[in-house]
Amino acid sequence: MNLNTVFFLLITLRLALAEPTNKKFPENFLFGTATASYQVEGGWNEDGKGENIWDYFTHTYPDRIANQANGDIACNSYHKYLEDIEMLKDLGVHFYRFSLSWSRILPEGHIEKINQVGVDYYKNLIKALKENGIEPYVTLYHWDLPQPLQEKGGWPNTDLMVDLFADYARLAFTLFGDQVKYWMTFNEAKQTCQLGYGYGVFAPGIQSNGIDSYKCAHTVIKSHAKAYHIYDEEFRKTQNGRVSMVIDSDWFEPASDSDKDIEAAERKIQFTFGWYANPIYHPDGNYPQVMIDRIAERSKKEGFEKSRLPEFTSDEIDYIKGTFDFLSLNTYTTSMVKWIDDYPIGNVGYDNDISVVAYQDPSWNSSASSWLKVVPWGTRKLINWVDKTYNHPEIVITENGFSDYGELDDEGRILYYQNYLSNILEAIKEDGINVTGYTAWSLMDNFEWLNGYTEKFGLYQVDFDDENRTRTPKKSADFYKKVVATKCLVNQCED
Ligand code: NOJ
Repeated sequence: MNLNTVFFLLITLRLALAEPTNKKFPENFLFGTATASYQVEGGWNEDGKGENIWDYFTHTYPDRIANQANGDIACNSYHKYLEDIEMLKDLGVHFYRFSLSWSRILPEGHIEKINQVGVDYYKNLIKALKENGIEPYVTLYHWDLPQPLQEKGGWPNTDLMVDLFADYARLAFTLFGDQVKYWMTFNEAKQTCQLGYGYGVFAPGIQSNGIDSYKCAHTVIKSHAKAYHIYDEEFRKTQNGRVSMVIDSDWFEPASDSDKDIEAAERKIQFTFGWYANPIYHPDGNYPQVMIDRIAERSKKEGFEKSRLPEFTSDEIDYIKGTFDFLSLNTYTTSMVKWIDDYPIGNVGYDNDISVVAYQDPSWNSSASSWLKVVPWGTRKLINWVDKTYNHPEIVITENGFSDYGELDDEGRILYYQNYLSNILEAIKEDGINVTGYTAWSLMDNFEWLNGYTEKFGLYQVDFDDENRTRTPKKSADFYKKVVATKCLVNQCED
């Protein structure tokens, strides 16, 4: 792309976006950035770390990842975490959201064998964050299951996994809970379950769409609830922290104002966000009724003995509902949704269970990621929907961000943040919604799963050709720093 084209694209992008608000974020609003263990740490087999499903997947099927990349070294944060903290300090963020690598702590996945060097790595990271006044927000599971547990069936094996995850969670609370006050059990479990065990494109690469992917979700939800109860009963009193589960969703906008398109968009969000959120965050608990009904009906027609969607007993429903101290939401983009006749019975799968058409408007501005169009207004609508559907919980945006090809002069990312944050701020100020924190994904460029190092989300550039993995602030880092310091998105805010 030559400079003129870039310039032209930026002008069109600016014109397509509304003016950002000149209101200010509330005084106690918290800003942070995020990363995840496999995406940044490297040190994949160092100091006693065990193999996880992403190590195994990238080493066994290198062609499934752009340029055959993997996370063996990634940003080398295993060795360079103090530099990461310098960057966080420079940004002035209140918190840093990162994840623990289960197999760095428990190389075989179970608590009989603890890797002390791995434990010390996280103790040191947490200590250094606290010394610099940065609150650690810790995710227990960001997609990197210990490989030995996958060999026993992984997440679809409910009987195995709920207790193992609970042991791991209890260990993490015991080891780090005196310093960590914000816990996220799972990150975007939909990607773990639907991409990992449904379509089979993510590790561990199992294709069991609409069967194992539902079992996986069932296990994850039960595991989350058990970890929450463990925290509640054994740790809350002394540690006084907060626990949540991160769920992701696009906003789904009806393609027209016809009742059918409105119904289709609602069905789509219930199958996406509601699948995980309803059992935990909805006052009635359980899966969304539309999922229960449709999957049961299609399963029957397909000849299954019972619904492919596992059932919660009424005791389980009660045990799971309300297991949150705030609602964590990851969101990046929007899709339009159109009603269609149900797909004929034949192919078993999640998308057939939903039977709608979702698409993105070709006029929306693009990023480097095919799925990520810039649609700031969708976020405000999503926040409103979440607030209304789940009875006004406190909401923390635990991820939001924009991809490009890594340029330091990343005007596109600045516009994205400015306009998404503006919509979030309007949701707070105009719609009265209790959003209390925002997390920019990501602190630095990192391993973007199937896309390797080709799509960049960082506020800091990382030079992956340099063995030092040199980090350089992008223009967006300056922008975000200013927002964090002033709570204002434009040059001058109203008081
Ligand atoms: C969601 C995931 O949590 C994160 O791992 C990923 O890199 C970003 N979205 C961007 O795709």
